[in-house]
Amino acid sequence: MISAMTQRIRPLLLVLFLAMVSNSVVVCTSRHQYWRPSDGPEGASYCLSWRLAVEANNVRAWRTVPTQCLRHVESYMIGGQYDRDINFIIDHVISYLDGVDLSNDGLDAWILDVDDTCISNLIYYKGKRFGCDPYDPDGFKTWALRGGCPAIPGVLRLFNKLISDGFKVFLVTGRDESTFGQATLDNLQNQGFIGYQRLILRSAAYKGQSAVVYKSEIREQLEEEGYRIWGNVGDQWSDLQGNCTGNRTFKLPNPLYFVP
Ligand SMILES: *[C@@H]1O[C@H](CO)[C@@H](O)[C@H](O)[C@H]1NC(C)=O
Ligand SMILES: *[C@@H]1O[C@H](CO)[C@@H](O)[C@H](O)[C@H]1NC(C)=O
Ligand SMILES: [Mg+2]
Repeated sequence: MISAMTQRIRPLLLVLFLAMVSNSVVVCTSRHQYWRPSDGPEGASYCLSWRLAVEANNVRAWRTVPTQCLRHVESYMIGGQYDRDINFIIDHVISYLDGVDLSNDGLDAWILDVDDTCISNLIYYKGKRFGCDPYDPDGFKTWALRGGCPAIPGVLRLFNKLISDGFKVFLVTGRDESTFGQATLDNLQNQGFIGYQRLILRSAAYKGQSAVVYKSEIREQLEEEGYRIWGNVGDQWSDLQGNCTGNRTFKLPNPLYFVP
């Protein structure tokens, strides 16, 4: 009888013992351990670390959000912190702008990326488990052709300030020109992005080029036209790297996808 009961609880005792040992090992040997094993890789602190590493460009070429971070990314994106982060950055852009000495020769330029900079794909990515599902080019095409991406309010506020300050604003996007040209124009217009200098989409000449090379070449051409690029705002590092990046770059958060 007793031995049968011992038999039954033995696995439980073993698990308890292992849990105690592994916890005390962590406590004793690692003063700098910042998440406990009980948090596991699904814990909130793991996802905070993942998101910080992604935003700092320490983790690159990642294909999907780790599934254990779905709820974390969801609450970041729709719980208010993403909007606060955007507005915080835009406030800094605007204080930089206040120190810029415009020459009023019509050549003071500013670059904005389009997707998840001017207009948001968050509604689409809700249906893709906030980036936990792999990239779906056909799904994205259907979504983007509707021209229904909402403006990101903080960036629209910056856009309007740039226009009223007298900057020539260039919207530079990796979207394919022949497929998305009209829908993108319409979408920007219906969201209040009015008065910019040029919308530049990826023409056939740049098909298959990395975003860094394509966007660098576009910016080089603008500088050859005489424009001074004072600033450049994007949600991807590839918007901000390469040549002629502008005097200041500003990285907006995007934990949903990575564009190389
Ligand atoms: C930047 O410019 C250098 C010098 O012209 C060139 O070799 C390099 O390929 C350019 N890089 C990009 C990303 O365009
Ligand atoms: C902006 O960048 C250009 C090119 O690097 C440089 O020549 C210019 O001095 C910079 N302007 C300011 C105000 O920093
Ligand atoms: Mg973008």
